[in-house]
Amino acid sequence: MSAVAALSYLVASVLFMSGLKMLSSPKTARKGNISASLGMLIAIVVTLTDEKILDYTFILAGLLTGSAVGVWFALRVQMTAMPQLVGVLNGFGGGASALVAFAEYIRISGDASLSVWTGDAPLDVLITLVLSILIGTVTIVGSMIASAKLHGVMRSAPILYPFQKQTNAAILVAAIVLGVLFVFDPSRWYLLVIIAGLAAILGVTSVIPIGGADMPVVISLMNSYSGLAGAMTGFVLSNNVLIISGTLVGTSGIILTNIMCKAMNRSLANVLFAGVGAEYDPSVQAVEQRTVIRYTPEDAATILESAQSVIIVPGYGLAVAQAQHALQELVNILTAKGMLVRYAIHPVAGRMPGHMNVLLAEANAPYDILMEMDQINDDFQNTDVALVIGANDVVNPAARYKKDSPLYGMPILNVDHARTVMVCKRSLNPGFAGEDNELFYNEKTMMVFGDAKETVTKLVQLMKS
Ligand code: TAP
Repeated sequence: MSAVAALSYLVASVLFMSGLKMLSSPKTARKGNISASLGMLIAIVVTLTDEKILDYTFILAGLLTGSAVGVWFALRVQMTAMPQLVGVLNGFGGGASALVAFAEYIRISGDASLSVWTGDAPLDVLITLVLSILIGTVTIVGSMIASAKLHGVMRSAPILYPFQKQTNAAILVAAIVLGVLFVFDPSRWYLLVIIAGLAAILGVTSVIPIGGADMPVVISLMNSYSGLAGAMTGFVLSNNVLIISGTLVGTSGIILTNIMCKAMNRSLANVLFAGVGAEYDPSVQAVEQRTVIRYTPEDAATILESAQSVIIVPGYGLAVAQAQHALQELVNILTAKGMLVRYAIHPVAGRMPGHMNVLLAEANAPYDILMEMDQINDDFQNTDVALVIGANDVVNPAARYKKDSPLYGMPILNVDHARTVMVCKRSLNPGFAGEDNELFYNEKTMMVFGDAKETVTKLVQLMKS
């Protein structure tokens, strides 16, 4: 590799790292995205100038096809389907790593028909080649299953069968044994195919026992795997920038997975192996026949008018309704009236990490009024109105006391400590975890039923007049 290429890869790696650092705060996230994208552009351009490339035909075909698919996805996929899309993209990353590793094996074997092995590959290349195919294939298949569950095209409840963990462990051990046999005799290319087959089975059997509610965590974990597979392929190709970027994706993915598990008060082992959600039967909850008092937006506006302090709790419904712009307009009006208005952001509100931050940034919500759960939870008790917009599980008190609930132990936003709670959603239906919400029946709760955008727009009109 030329010195210029090596230096450019170094610059790209620094841009990736500074980009990641900036992504950790909503204030700097946009700059972080640009920094990381610039790093990727440099890495791609430098790689394309490699003198070992003899023919650009396939590269161009891949570039055009990939760009067309990317543009199609970007234009068609709804914001609410973003987690599934991220899952699919992680899967493609893992699949690409596995394919590149296999292509590199064909190159080093010295015979494209694979009938004779005349290659001479060092041990580390052979080991990372096996790992790249193993992890990459688990990633693509596992990610597709996770995305299918999230998208509702596959049964979302955990699919459990006897000796599940043992079967998965046996498949993994078999793949590793075959990998060792391959490393001893790399002419046996068919072992790589069998390893890929076992990895594909593992991708299915390790994800189907996990409930749909935990799929965002699985997608984050698969993201981490895709990074590991990329890093392994980086070793196979001796490509530094791929090793560094793959490692960054691998580690940040696992850190994110851990943050999500902590926010739900669960361990990763519990998410992966406990089959949480298998016993949940929505029909049992549906028979619950308690009544709540229905309030109109006019009633809500009257209460808001006399409030001094308001904390807004956004949730997944805000994203579904795309009500963020109207909501920010309401915040501007309330602030102009001299009220203290802040947003309380639960770490797992919505369907992907930072979902609410992204939505509110889109609506130009000032960063200094976006409060994380720990920062604001004690303030609810001194607040006049907690305005819950399209959130449910993240404010469900069952998380505090109901031991058999999938939410049990998850820290929640203490909206019920506020003087008045306004909940804006379309019905009494449960949230993602399928758990009925006691908050709706609380005597200080005002249920304002309706689509979040329509209700908030109405509130804006009323507050203006
Ligand atoms: P949810 O508990 O899923 O509740 C969202 C509520 O929005 C629903 O109850 C729904 O009620 C309402 N809604 C839907 N469309 C609406 C619309 N157009 N207008 C008004 N309301 C609407 O959301 P949450 O409180 O944000 O909690 C997130 C859940 O996802 C948690 O269980 C969390 O553990 C899980 N999860 C999140 C993540 C990340 S990283 N964010 C990761 C893993 C799991 P109606 O149908 O009655 O309107």
